[in-house]
Amino acid sequence: MNRLTKSLLIAIYLCAASTGMLAASANLIANIPGRTHISLDGTWRAIIDPYETGMGARFYENAKPKTPRDLVEYDFDTSAILNVPGDWNSQRAELFFYEGSIWYKKSFSYHKRDHARVFVYFGAANYKALIYLNGQKLGEHEGGFTPFNFEVTGQIREGDNFLVVEVNDQRKLENVPGTVTDFWNYGGLTRDVSLIEVPETFIEDYWVQLAKGSLNEVEGWVKLNGVSGPQQIVAEIPEAGIKQPVTTDDKGYGHFRFPANLTLWSPENPKLYQVMLTGAGDSVGEQIGFRNVETRGSRIFLNGKPVFLRGISLHEEAPFRGGRAFSEEDDQILLNWAKELGCNFVRLAHYPHNEKMIRLADRLGLMVWSEVPIYWETAWENPATLKNAQEQLHDLIARDHNRASVVLWSVANETPINAARLAFLQALIAQARTLDSTRLITAALNHYEHTSPNTVVLSDPLAPSLDVVGLNEYLGWYGSERPEDCDHLQWSLPNEKPLIVSEFGGGAPFGSHGDSDTRWTEEYQANLYERQINMLRRIPTLAGMSPWVLMDFHSPRRLLPGVQDYRNRKGLFSDQGERKQAFYVLQRFYREVKEAPRQAGKTD
Ligand code: GCU
Repeated sequence: MNRLTKSLLIAIYLCAASTGMLAASANLIANIPGRTHISLDGTWRAIIDPYETGMGARFYENAKPKTPRDLVEYDFDTSAILNVPGDWNSQRAELFFYEGSIWYKKSFSYHKRDHARVFVYFGAANYKALIYLNGQKLGEHEGGFTPFNFEVTGQIREGDNFLVVEVNDQRKLENVPGTVTDFWNYGGLTRDVSLIEVPETFIEDYWVQLAKGSLNEVEGWVKLNGVSGPQQIVAEIPEAGIKQPVTTDDKGYGHFRFPANLTLWSPENPKLYQVMLTGAGDSVGEQIGFRNVETRGSRIFLNGKPVFLRGISLHEEAPFRGGRAFSEEDDQILLNWAKELGCNFVRLAHYPHNEKMIRLADRLGLMVWSEVPIYWETAWENPATLKNAQEQLHDLIARDHNRASVVLWSVANETPINAARLAFLQALIAQARTLDSTRLITAALNHYEHTSPNTVVLSDPLAPSLDVVGLNEYLGWYGSERPEDCDHLQWSLPNEKPLIVSEFGGGAPFGSHGDSDTRWTEEYQANLYERQINMLRRIPTLAGMSPWVLMDFHSPRRLLPGVQDYRNRKGLFSDQGERKQAFYVLQRFYREVKEAPRQAGKTD
């Protein structure tokens, strides 16, 4: 990490402090699982507030009538119950389509500890959250898929406390994502909520990864919170006999780089090391993998070797019960299905998935494409929308920068070509490169056209700004082509960059059968996969794929009765875990690719 990047990182922290971006919430505390935490998960009281009465009525005071004459027109403790974590849509039938405000309240008892600072941490809240403790406003957060925390050391009481959160998931064009998505707008406190206890000076965040372009040097930094003057920290990898002293500056920032002979993380051998950081009165540790990912020409290299990304796209939707996935169990089922397909890669669409999913990908040996929800139409010219997108990207990278599995940051999915969009996305790309020079930057593009009956050309002015080009194409499903037309189609693509076909696919409810020319049948879907795979393997720059999609998922845009019923049916699995014929087509191809890896630049 050169001096420039280091000073830029500090600058980002400092300017973040000055721009009030942090006014919304404190710096993200890294590695929450590795901290002392008290869960506030479980049942919460909830007031469904369609006309946003709560702010005027000061619901955040959680008031009770003091005298029989008092007029208080709400009462959390006799209101509905919602589970946290969990979206509200899949918990109560009357909330399935609900978009608006719901006020949550959690009463809890707390015992203060000397010299401890306390933060309240949210894994995510969709979409906009206003947070109050004991009637006092802590702050607010916007964006449904990234974590946030507030310091409450000064507000939390010995004994009884109550946390009130207004969550509103109304869709607006200036939001990120905007108003129209092909996925359900699951509202609520969708991930864990907990109290975090740390010492007065604590290790707020750290970066411990292989240095860019190196296979045997670790580079990183540590950031202390609550420091007064330089501190001594030790970065340790006990299994590798590494004990590296680091001196922080008076702002609590310390940089390090040291040689390390480590077993590198890969899908075949997802080796993780226990890494500890200790000093300044605090100690925190976690399992971290070390790997290097880069591109050379049109190939992707992992640890210096060419790799083909055998992938699948998936939504963060729970199998069997539906709703937003949030638990280790949900994630384990989804990623095990991907492994069963023969995947070494998953595209987590179209927003940051829960942290457990990423840590599980580390353990299972699945490379990850992680994406911020710049999806379809967005308010490209609105500076607040750009700032919001930058905050979501910043927080995603802040949460997952120590995850070996994450190899790609995606800044957008299927966005229209115009100058404002280009500037918007290039600003995000520049920010991602500043925050993390060690991972690859991509986006899912979908602007292609026929230049002759047999030639399809992808043309998008954003492509030159990417390390890896993502392509979403639905030949054989949307548009006039039939699956058979893929047999003679040749793609013309930017040939100096690796290509990941980030989406292709077709819909079929499980158990719907007919001839392969009949839409909505498993036979049609399987035939489409056969034809697509044969077409794509003819592309010299093909470095991977993540067909659309692992499992059928809820979508407010899929309305065909008896076929879709508010679900997108392009899954290779039904939502009940049934494998469709196309599952076996892709599994067979991945088995073949695994046994006979594609030669550099060679088509099959
Ligand atoms: C798009 C989009 C997905 C969507 C899919 C589909 O490409 O990226 O979010 O679900 O196509 O149409 O099924």
